[in-house]
Amino acid sequence: MCGIVGILGKGPVAGDLIEALKRLEYRGYDSAGVATLENGRIVRVRASGKLKNLEEKLATEKLSGAAGIGHTRWATHGKPTESNAHPHASDKVVVVHNGIIENFRELREELQGRGHRFASETDSEVVAHLVSDGLKAGATPQDAVAATLKRLKGAFALAFLFEGENDLLIGARRGSPLAVGWGEEGVYLGSDALALAPFANSIAYLDEGDWVVLRRESSEFHNADDAIVERRRQPLQAGSFLVEKGNFRHFMAKEIFEQPEVIGRTLAHYLDLAEGVVRLPFDFSFDPARLSRVTISACGTAFYAGLVARYWLERFARLSVDIDIASEFRYRDPPLPDDGLMIVVSQSGETADTLAALRYAKQHNQHTLAIVNVDTSTIARESDIVARTLAGPEIGVASTKAFTCQLAVFACLALALGRARGVLTREQERELVAELIATPGQMAEELNREAQIEPVARDVARATSSLYLGRGPSFPLAMEGALKLKELSYIHAEGYAAGELKHGPIALIDYAMPVIVLAPPDASLEKTVSNLQEVAARGGHLILIGPPSARTAAAAELAGYVEVAENVSGPFAALVYAAPVQLLAYHVAVFMGKDVDQPRNLAKSVTVE
Ligand code: AGP
Repeated sequence: MCGIVGILGKGPVAGDLIEALKRLEYRGYDSAGVATLENGRIVRVRASGKLKNLEEKLATEKLSGAAGIGHTRWATHGKPTESNAHPHASDKVVVVHNGIIENFRELREELQGRGHRFASETDSEVVAHLVSDGLKAGATPQDAVAATLKRLKGAFALAFLFEGENDLLIGARRGSPLAVGWGEEGVYLGSDALALAPFANSIAYLDEGDWVVLRRESSEFHNADDAIVERRRQPLQAGSFLVEKGNFRHFMAKEIFEQPEVIGRTLAHYLDLAEGVVRLPFDFSFDPARLSRVTISACGTAFYAGLVARYWLERFARLSVDIDIASEFRYRDPPLPDDGLMIVVSQSGETADTLAALRYAKQHNQHTLAIVNVDTSTIARESDIVARTLAGPEIGVASTKAFTCQLAVFACLALALGRARGVLTREQERELVAELIATPGQMAEELNREAQIEPVARDVARATSSLYLGRGPSFPLAMEGALKLKELSYIHAEGYAAGELKHGPIALIDYAMPVIVLAPPDASLEKTVSNLQEVAARGGHLILIGPPSARTAAAAELAGYVEVAENVSGPFAALVYAAPVQLLAYHVAVFMGKDVDQPRNLAKSVTVE
């Protein structure tokens, strides 16, 4: 996902552009650039790689302009080179873009037919040339932008500057978020509030299809029909977005260790801790007793949270659950039942496939509920009910605290639905809520055992492939563990149902491949131990994550053992077992010297299909 910023300042803005772009680094990128108006003239400085490369160039190519735009690019069309880096320019206009222009090829051919020459392979550059054509035809910058937006198909957030227009910044949004910020030192555009937090004390979000004309003393919002509209301006507390690593080496480590606090904060938002019962912060917009089925759709780690939740919704709310990854869901053209509930899960609330799954469900008259970490996100704005995770900004590209907070919300939801549907007694609810309330403390306990992880991580770091096994809710957690290892260390890993081992994957067993078994002391422990012994009997490289009782029961030669407390048991154990799973992947990546917070090729939120 790219990041865009724009500033109309009182003095030189290049430094603030870089500061804002640094706060968007978490989105993942592979090149960056800025453009300012130097005595009215557009000057661009761009660099491939990380922001530090751009800063080095700016140290010699100094920019002093008080109007500027900036961009971090996650390559979709064209390699991550300097020539493909944004901003892109044509004559008197310069632009930065987040998203995808789906009809850019036909537009490019049309423009080339009119003599335009392109300097990049990107889809974004066509936008600059279209606006430039409008200016040459005598249109004002506003009209040229408005006309251009009508030519574009696809998703975009855009920011424009114009030669000779020192007090004009235009932004536009369709499918990718964009916010306006106002501060003491200027007027701002940014992909999200995080980028604007150091500068702005109030913020407004563009709605779908909006475009905005900003000057230092005026802001004019237009909707998709170009009519002038008002957009709600709300205070922005910079502190709420204070994202620093503190004394952690990586954002991911900080966010792993924040989990006890943010899981506790999230649970407190959904539980009446004094009464020991669920107290949702919203009313259902449907009659839970009439619900026919729940459909869940999400991507990546959020999808695995949904897979874990399926066990809870079926068991405690007696609801049947269909779940699919969002990139497959709508293309199945699945029939959806009357009185069905669609639950979408997304940390960013901007994942294109998940948004499309939500829109499919709405077109098929489903009730919709979004579990998101950003309640101003597109997915949140388009859902009937928003169930927030209170994880706080998650900067590490690999999701950790958002995942466990998603599980916490799902658990509360399952219990609330069970109560509302009359299939869970008050007594059962209290017992289960008590188990949930214990999870933050249990998580803290497990995080305190971090030291035991490192030798196991050094062992796994030598592998080229690995297998994670689990049963019940530990099966999707095994898949999440495999994803963590893949995306952080680039070691291939696969999460598998332990009971499926003998139906094929057991052929893989040899000592070169670590088999990491998640074995909480739940009803399936005995069977999981049998699977573990099947691996041991074939000379497998066994690593057990579980309580001492599991280790004793296994009575097998272990290459590694990660102890988890005996009292981490019951239906919500997967929430706590996420800690050793995350720490293992983290330490493998650290040991291997990988870029933990921004793994190669990854973006924090994939806002393109
Ligand atoms: C998580 O570690 C991954 N980086 C990725 O799978 C992520 O969970 C997925 O892209 C979904 O993102 P979202 O939660 O913002 O929708």
